[in-house]
Amino acid sequence: MGIIKEHFGKTVSGIDVDKFILSNANGIEITIITYGATITSIIAPDKFGNFEDIVLGYDDISSYESGNKYFGAVIGRSANRIEKGRFAINGKEYRLAQNDNTNHLHGGIVGFDKVVWTAEKVDSADNQLKLSYFSPDNEEGYPGNLKVSVTYTVTDDNKLIIAYEGICDKDTLVNLTNHSYFNLTGEGSKQVLNHKLFINSDEYTPIDNNSIPIGYLSSVIDTPMDFRQLKYIGSEIESGFQQIQIGQGYDHNWMLNSKGDINTLASRLIDEASGRVLEVYTTKPAMQVYTANFLDGSDIGKGNIVYPRRSAVCLETQFVPNCINCDNFPSPILKCGDKYNHCTIFKFGTL
Ligand code: BGC
Repeated sequence: MGIIKEHFGKTVSGIDVDKFILSNANGIEITIITYGATITSIIAPDKFGNFEDIVLGYDDISSYESGNKYFGAVIGRSANRIEKGRFAINGKEYRLAQNDNTNHLHGGIVGFDKVVWTAEKVDSADNQLKLSYFSPDNEEGYPGNLKVSVTYTVTDDNKLIIAYEGICDKDTLVNLTNHSYFNLTGEGSKQVLNHKLFINSDEYTPIDNNSIPIGYLSSVIDTPMDFRQLKYIGSEIESGFQQIQIGQGYDHNWMLNSKGDINTLASRLIDEASGRVLEVYTTKPAMQVYTANFLDGSDIGKGNIVYPRRSAVCLETQFVPNCINCDNFPSPILKCGDKYNHCTIFKFGTL
């Protein structure tokens, strides 16, 4: 129990990166590095009491620096895509870095996943680690000096509580998330299609050919997007349904019926073989589910494991992608001097 601090490595530019291992009374161990405030491993028991690492990641800092898959990182200032990298606040247009064809993705070329955060508070008694980052005005094109922090807490009832905070000196856009790739069998097991998924949602946001939400909601009923009952991720992923074809699998945003209530279950992921269960609770209104369709075996992960296509699933709680350019959805604008607050809980259990 408690927190262990170790040196993880040095970035190419010579900045030291530390790693912190947070553990609880039941033997769950979660490792976080200061680079990208990234979760590099989550070691959790199965129903027989065997421990495995259930998230994808790398062993060394240089792979995190050169990689472009966002394994375990905090994503900011804005998760997912912003169409053409453009938006306006108070009538003023801003242009962001375009790093996904003409779109802006996951905060840009040097997003919050590619910077070193400061360990501001390491509290072993409470199993709590607070990392902070100062994002200067105009970074990747975003307005305002933003002070942001993420606090990770590991509890004895097997929760990882992720609390995000932010404050800015101009009206800006903030939409943070965590980009962990989960595989509940173990990160080396190479496929996730045999996991069952529940999403507490009746509606999703259909996407255009550039994976930008078109701007309206569609019912999940009678479509492969329906996860209102636990369903194997793989059961309809090869269907001819146009949305799945565009996303090359699931890469869509669902509106959560939990509507920002942290006490209402947003999603549940189950691996029947190991019996591991992951539950998601969040104050955010929506969740992007990404079935790692763009992993292609080119990433050499921990212990030299190659991660093939669809070997994990990301459950990214957030605002609707590109909602800054759309009036139909909750707004991601953070007003000057207001506080950004967002909490997401990953709860680890067994069947
Ligand atoms: C996005 C995918 C993207 C991936 C990058 C996901 O959040 O929805 O389209 O390829 O992140 O790792």
